[in-house]
Amino acid sequence: MQGNVFRKVERDFSVKRQHAQSDARTFKKNVYDENPELAEIENKINTIALKSAKSRIFSDNLSREVEQEKLEIELAKLNRDYNDKLKELGLTKKDFEPKYECEKCNDTGFIDNKMCSCFNQELINEAFKQSNLSKIKEENFETFDFGYYSTCSNKEKYGIEKSPLENIDGIRKLAYNFSHNLDDTQQKNLLFTGSTGLGKTFLANCIACEAIKQGKSVIYQTAPILLDKMVDYKFRFNKTDSEREEYDKIFDVDLLIIDDLGTEAMNSAKFSELFNILNTRLLKNKKILISTNLTPQEIKREYEERIFSRFVGDFLVCRFVGEDIRLLKKKIVSK
Ligand SMILES: Nc1ncnc2c1ncn2[C@@H]1O[C@H](COP(=O)(O)OP(=O)(O)OP(=O)(O)O)[C@@H](O)[C@H]1O
Ligand SMILES: [Mg+2]
Ligand SMILES: [Zn+2]
Repeated sequence: MQGNVFRKVERDFSVKRQHAQSDARTFKKNVYDENPELAEIENKINTIALKSAKSRIFSDNLSREVEQEKLEIELAKLNRDYNDKLKELGLTKKDFEPKYECEKCNDTGFIDNKMCSCFNQELINEAFKQSNLSKIKEENFETFDFGYYSTCSNKEKYGIEKSPLENIDGIRKLAYNFSHNLDDTQQKNLLFTGSTGLGKTFLANCIACEAIKQGKSVIYQTAPILLDKMVDYKFRFNKTDSEREEYDKIFDVDLLIIDDLGTEAMNSAKFSELFNILNTRLLKNKKILISTNLTPQEIKREYEERIFSRFVGDFLVCRFVGEDIRLLKKKIVSK
């Protein structure tokens, strides 16, 4: 989990707590403004409590006991009056307490130094937000539909012996294992190739969702945006802390998903950024998933030997085959 995710959630919790407390103060003040007798009783209660504390410290034994008894009777009466008055208004003392979202930890996020489940859940939610994945709720292993992949093999058409269904079944298993083995040094990175609409981005989302559920940090970005941003950052003169953090994250997150490689207009600055990302992350054993419409041969040609020949052994190539699911979906809708 990223440090900035943790800090953000910590800040959010602190704000949430302060809001609950200030809402409670405001509510009490409004009730007291409308019912000044409540404030009067409370003042009296406070005065007596103070007197009682003083007498406990300063009086001698006998007079202390008498005094304490008297004060306790007074105090009990005042408390009764106070509660009666509240009851008349349809309230109880509890209504003046802050309304925390989580009653277990009072929105502190921790119980006896252990993380509360609400805080943990918020870390996951925040990680989802920061991963730049908006479709993750719809596109995950639970919603994965095999129905779009044909059971008929066609070597001429698809270039492989297996049917699209057998093929995707293998890739899906591999993807699932990948999402659970991000830290494993033996685990290779993934390269999804295949023409448009075959489910590459969908499966990348499945992996991201699963990884985040394991507490891993994920960034998803399309190659054109990612490389533009990085080059832009490199050449910017004044860099803010948050820009620097954003940039560093590209190298540090547990999983970086680069989608649509091959759709950007390349230049030497972008080549060098791409090389830098791959090289740095591989050295740190941080996993990468690349998705592209290009074939491995086209990648070699377009991205020059100097980038991919270095990394070829570090990637498992998953070839997606089948029919364009976007078209299949349209056909189903228009039927
Ligand atoms: N296994 C699946 N189950 C259900 N829907 C799917 C599945 N795979 C893909 N889809 C849907 O099919 C459409 C195309 O899928 P996706 O965007 O993943 O294709 P792609 O291979 O990334 O295409 P491109 O190369 O154009 O980016 C999307 O609407 C997606 O939600
Ligand atoms: Mg895609
Ligand atoms: Zn809690």
